[in-house]
Amino acid sequence: MKIDVLTLFPEMFSPVTESSILGRAVGKGILDIRLTDIRDFTNDRHNRADDYPFGGGGGMVMMADPIFGALESVEADRKKIVYMSPRGRLLDSDMIKQMSQLDEFVILCGHYEGVDQRVLDYWEIEEVSIGDYVLTGGELPAMVLIDSVARLIPEVLGNENSAMDESIYSGLLEHPQYTKPREYRGMQVPEVLVSGNHKLIDLWKFREALMLTKKRRPDLFDEFVKKCRNLSKDEG
Ligand code: ADE
Repeated sequence: MKIDVLTLFPEMFSPVTESSILGRAVGKGILDIRLTDIRDFTNDRHNRADDYPFGGGGGMVMMADPIFGALESVEADRKKIVYMSPRGRLLDSDMIKQMSQLDEFVILCGHYEGVDQRVLDYWEIEEVSIGDYVLTGGELPAMVLIDSVARLIPEVLGNENSAMDESIYSGLLEHPQYTKPREYRGMQVPEVLVSGNHKLIDLWKFREALMLTKKRRPDLFDEFVKKCRNLSKDEG
């Protein structure tokens, strides 16, 4: 998967290009993250990428021309483009699944008061939000999008770890996890997990996931119950 990221702060992206699981995927060539510095497409002496908003108001707006230049340089006209913005559609597991099917896409990161609206209109860019709060720029949200999409590419996590098996993707929150030692400061690992009985273990995990979801996310729980009812209707 190839992801072009257009940003004024390419140096912020080392957590997803160099470290940990995504760094390994980049190293193996499974994930190709190309960083484009929007400032490279400015035309004036001072490399200005922003200016005061028409109509007044605080802050600065990122100018259209450097962003057009950056988008053209990555041939964005034939790719899906998303703009990270608190005004956007809320990122959820459905959107993440859809984007994980793409071979390539472009992420535009805004800063200050955002980008000139004509960029979004001309390029028919989809705005995506990671939550109902405002961050100082689109770079952290872009990394959230990259991480959540990339881990659904089968080779990224490796065979031993199917992301689709997990929690939110099955509609439930994940059961509690334990590792060595079996006893820590007087606290025991649930007996069933060391019983060797895999049927019982699966049952325990499912029951814990159900109970946790019901308690913490009754909305997800109701959705899950509805899905189960429909499944049994279809079979009946
Ligand atoms: N930029 C600033 N805040 C944001 C948010 N919540 N989601 C996406 N992009 C943003």
